[in-house]
Amino acid sequence: MKIGFIGLGRMGSRMAMNVLSQFKELYVYNRTKEKAKNLLDKGAIWCDSPKEVAMNTDVVITMLRDSQSVRWALLSEVGAFNGAKKGMYFVDMSTIQPKVTIEIALEASKRNLHFIDAPVIGSVDQAAEGTLTIVCGGSEEDFKVIKPILQSMGKNIFYVGPAGSGSKLKLINNALIANFPIIFSEVINVARKAGLRDEIVLGVLKAGIFGKAIEYYEKRIIGKDFTTRFSLDLMLKDIKYFKELAEDLAVKPLLTARLEELYQEAFNKGLGNLDYTAISLLHEKS
Ligand SMILES: NC(=O)c1ccc[n+]([C@@H]2O[C@H](COP(=O)([O-])OP(=O)(O)OC[C@H]3O[C@@H](n4cnc5c(N)ncnc54)[C@H](OP(=O)(O)O)[C@@H]3O)[C@@H](O)[C@H]2O)c1
Repeated sequence: MKIGFIGLGRMGSRMAMNVLSQFKELYVYNRTKEKAKNLLDKGAIWCDSPKEVAMNTDVVITMLRDSQSVRWALLSEVGAFNGAKKGMYFVDMSTIQPKVTIEIALEASKRNLHFIDAPVIGSVDQAAEGTLTIVCGGSEEDFKVIKPILQSMGKNIFYVGPAGSGSKLKLINNALIANFPIIFSEVINVARKAGLRDEIVLGVLKAGIFGKAIEYYEKRIIGKDFTTRFSLDLMLKDIKYFKELAEDLAVKPLLTARLEELYQEAFNKGLGNLDYTAISLLHEKS
């Protein structure tokens, strides 16, 4: 099977490298061509548009920013669906709105194409190591066909249900995670004001049920390392998508509405390009 990869940002560039290492031949496209350099140096083949990627391959993977960019890469005039042969496979690994995933899956089926949503859990380190968790929606038969390709990028690969299920689960995961740096920095601030020493507080918290998470956020937030792995801007996108999903399901998003306000405030303060853990700086800037 010839494979194509569209979207070579922080995640896509690393994931594509693993696909190339395992399958040896890879056709690539990215809006900004310079980001393909490492892959082209290793033998990947450049295409001038998403359409051209599809024309040269049997399976096309997309790893793009949001619903709008995925719609453009698949459905526009220069989009991959326009270059597709009947029976081709499309795998969208971006985090997008489930309703857009479902819309694209319907369009794919009208054109006799196979479509799987396969967003990822984990960040740049797991993308580089090929140890991502991947949650897939679509037909189970299609999932089985593309699973060997997913195995070059991920370790824990789940089939979770019909089209859109992967997108839904991914948003659920991120809505949970988005809370953590806020509450973490809040309790640490209060602990400090209460005269408790960081190392004592952290030692006790690490012994509890959130131990692994405390270790992670200690490094980023206490260590003030906001090097971008997953940008605050992308987390804000995911919170908006999750809130929309909750509202569409008639669930009142009490906490998520506040989360959105806080991430929006941090974004407005110019923190959007930093790692999402920089949301903790709101405690300093307020
Ligand atoms: N970073 C993480 O830790 C992480 C973890 C799990 C899931 N995700 C999800 O994975 C996806 C990619 O994340 P990332 O961190 O790799 O983001 P990123 O580094 O910002 O890369 C975004 C990619 O989308 C492309 N893009 C953006 N807007 C576009 C447009 N209007 N038209 C065409 N292409 C466009 C970018 O092209 P250019 O290079 O030209 O800008 C780039 O290839 C997102 O959906 C994100 O939510 C990220």
